[in-house]
Amino acid sequence: MEFVSKSGHIDKLSTPCLILPVFSKGKQSDVTNAFDKAHNKQIAAVLKQGDATGKAGNTLLLQMPAGSKTKRVLLVGVGEQGKTTDVDFNKASSASINALKRLPIKSICSALLTVDVTNKNDEWKVRQLVLKSREALYQYTETLTTSAPDAHALEKCQLLVTGDSSAVAIDKAATIATSIANGVDIAKKLADLPGNICTPTYLANAAKTLGKEHKSLKVTVLDEAKMEKLGMGSLLSVSRGSREPAKLITMEHKGGPASQKPIVIVGKGLTFDAGGISIKPSSGMDEMKYDMCGGASVFGVMQMCAELNLPINVVGVVPSSENLPDGDANKPGDIVTSMKGLTIEILNTDAEGRLILCDALTYSAKFKPDVVIDIATLTGACVVALGKHATGLLGNNDELANELLGAGIKAGDKAWQLPLWDEYRPQLKSNFADLANIGGPTGGTITAACFLSRFTEDYKWAHLDIAGTAWKSGADKGATGRPVHMLSQFILDRC
Ligand code: BES
Ligand code: MN
Ligand code: ZN
Repeated sequence: MEFVSKSGHIDKLSTPCLILPVFSKGKQSDVTNAFDKAHNKQIAAVLKQGDATGKAGNTLLLQMPAGSKTKRVLLVGVGEQGKTTDVDFNKASSASINALKRLPIKSICSALLTVDVTNKNDEWKVRQLVLKSREALYQYTETLTTSAPDAHALEKCQLLVTGDSSAVAIDKAATIATSIANGVDIAKKLADLPGNICTPTYLANAAKTLGKEHKSLKVTVLDEAKMEKLGMGSLLSVSRGSREPAKLITMEHKGGPASQKPIVIVGKGLTFDAGGISIKPSSGMDEMKYDMCGGASVFGVMQMCAELNLPINVVGVVPSSENLPDGDANKPGDIVTSMKGLTIEILNTDAEGRLILCDALTYSAKFKPDVVIDIATLTGACVVALGKHATGLLGNNDELANELLGAGIKAGDKAWQLPLWDEYRPQLKSNFADLANIGGPTGGTITAACFLSRFTEDYKWAHLDIAGTAWKSGADKGATGRPVHMLSQFILDRC
């Protein structure tokens, strides 16, 4: 769906559907009143009857009389006047589209931007309206035949501009938001695909396709032989247990001056994690197709950078493999040698994410990065600690960590920092190798980051554990596309 600003008088609008905000408890906004005056005070009558409550996200569709240039009006609740919160606004944005997406309407006009939201400006409102609308329109269809959802008719959304708001600024914000939404979409689409379709080779081909679509992107894929030459013994030990060959995918967006050090983002691309010989329980194991969500978010962010042609250098690195049990798979007690030269005792083959990431992190130094950020569905412990709302954040540089925390708050895609203190380091001690790949039953998210920190000493680094935030379980099982929005904001703030 395309989002464009629309100036002009509300009482003369010609549109199949106008979305009008309504407040709870009485007084209505100027736009709603202006429209109502020109339409026989029908809305006032409806509100008096109590049919539209104004509760955030509550919707009521009204048919306008024959001959009216505005064919329909969707009343959307945005909470109490003067007290609309960010959460209320987001609910109203989602609800508007959910109420309209099954109707045969191609074009709509939304007056939601006219609502004042506590501590938020136009740019924020446009961003959220676009992202929430696109989220409501997202449909997985790839492997559905008879149960495939009907395609929606919505193609265009006009954003009504009033008062001091600038149409130019709104259009600019809509363009940026659309590219972020496109990034979120590609991340979700890749993540929702099953493990038998979305293999490391599939991801590598998807990257090559992305490279062909965007001039600024240079895509390189290393196969196992090349990784062997580089000494990536840790990464390759994981893929040895699988028939699908591992791939190391690199996507470089060169938008800034050649001398500018890039932001490097490294995403775990484990296309299916059965645990290996330390096999996982079977219940819910299907969700381990989502173990490539970190990698998928890297695809989303790289696409966003390329689409907007951002004047900055960003490199995406996705180490991709499966983790399965096999006669040739890693066994508990096996010792492998990483690209960095450190030996690792694999005490649990299910702690495989760090084994592929450590070599990708060592490899990342070759880009002479300004900062490196890795994104991974790394630990179940992170879901226990932070639940499904906050991404876990750890790192070796507080300035970078604060920058990411701030971007997360701005984007509504939040992270929470956990300590990466030296006190945790002895938990990774091994009698037989330089370090063990697990740190015992306590502080699992922190010890996982501790492990990674041994491979990131040469640059500023942050780690995002998205085990809780990358997808939803239950009736609306599906990928969320997080943290594409946070990382997009982080990059935009640096442009
Ligand atoms: N991919 C999993 C982490 C995970 C678990 C993400 C559940 C989302 C939900 C990771 O590879 C893993 O298995 N981690 C182990 C580490 C443990 C063996 C130290 C875990 O969290 O149980
Ligand atoms: Mn695992
Ligand atoms: Zn995993």
